Amino acid sequence: MNNISTSNNWDSALYEDKHAFVWQYGEDLLKLLNPKPGESILDIGCGTGQLTEKIAQAGAEVMGIDHAAAMIEKARQNYPHIRFDVADATKFQVDMPLDAVFSNAVLHWVKEADSAIASIHQSLKSGGRFVAEFGGKGNVEAIVTALYSALASIGIPQAQIENPWYYPSIGEYTSLLEQQGFDVIYAILFPRSTPLAEGEAGMANWIKMFASTFLAGLSPEQQIQIIPVVEEYLKPTLYQQGTWAADYRRLRVVAIKL
Ligand code: BEZ
Repeated sequence: MNNISTSNNWDSALYEDKHAFVWQYGEDLLKLLNPKPGESILDIGCGTGQLTEKIAQAGAEVMGIDHAAAMIEKARQNYPHIRFDVADATKFQVDMPLDAVFSNAVLHWVKEADSAIASIHQSLKSGGRFVAEFGGKGNVEAIVTALYSALASIGIPQAQIENPWYYPSIGEYTSLLEQQGFDVIYAILFPRSTPLAEGEAGMANWIKMFASTFLAGLSPEQQIQIIPVVEEYLKPTLYQQGTWAADYRRLRVVAIKL
């Protein structure tokens, strides 16, 4: 997707063109899902459908949902043989209980984690699996700190800024899963420094695509001024030889419905 909670207005062309790394890294997660022919699987936050299609290629009956209508429109164009629907991760319903629910790089946009877990739980068969990866504790911490510092430097306090993300620790997220009737059989939090496309413009593009709520209260002039300040803060740690990297930390879980 991969934005499920903050906006329905994603630029699906920009997303496909410049952020292909989102589903390229997700291929690793597919191995953990290990979809089998005939299984019924839901892909939550399917974006423009690339990983959904890989699940279909394994012979599974897959369906993709995303909160962003533009993503679903593009996914349908890309893969007309797959069912894609606009739906909310915190309150979707399925016709028949599923063998698996899959989600890559999405659930950090879903602050109502409890509601999403409840929806996922009710959608699975007993013994069905939930396989997910998203930003975990400490994800993009350097970028967030630089945004707060740059905004403070022009008089905007942290309290006025909307941080759109939920980055739980392993303990926090697995406890939520257990409380709602999952047996968590795998959980890992690991750093994955992620190179951004477009050379020098990489960080500015990432911020405009994903962190726009941090800039929402600014005038157009302030928005233009602030990004170079953020870049200045980040350059020593996240810019090397003409390429920016985002300081991602991924939380991966596999949980079985009891
Ligand atoms: C992530 O995949 O961790 C991520 C993507 C966009 C914004 C924030 C985090």
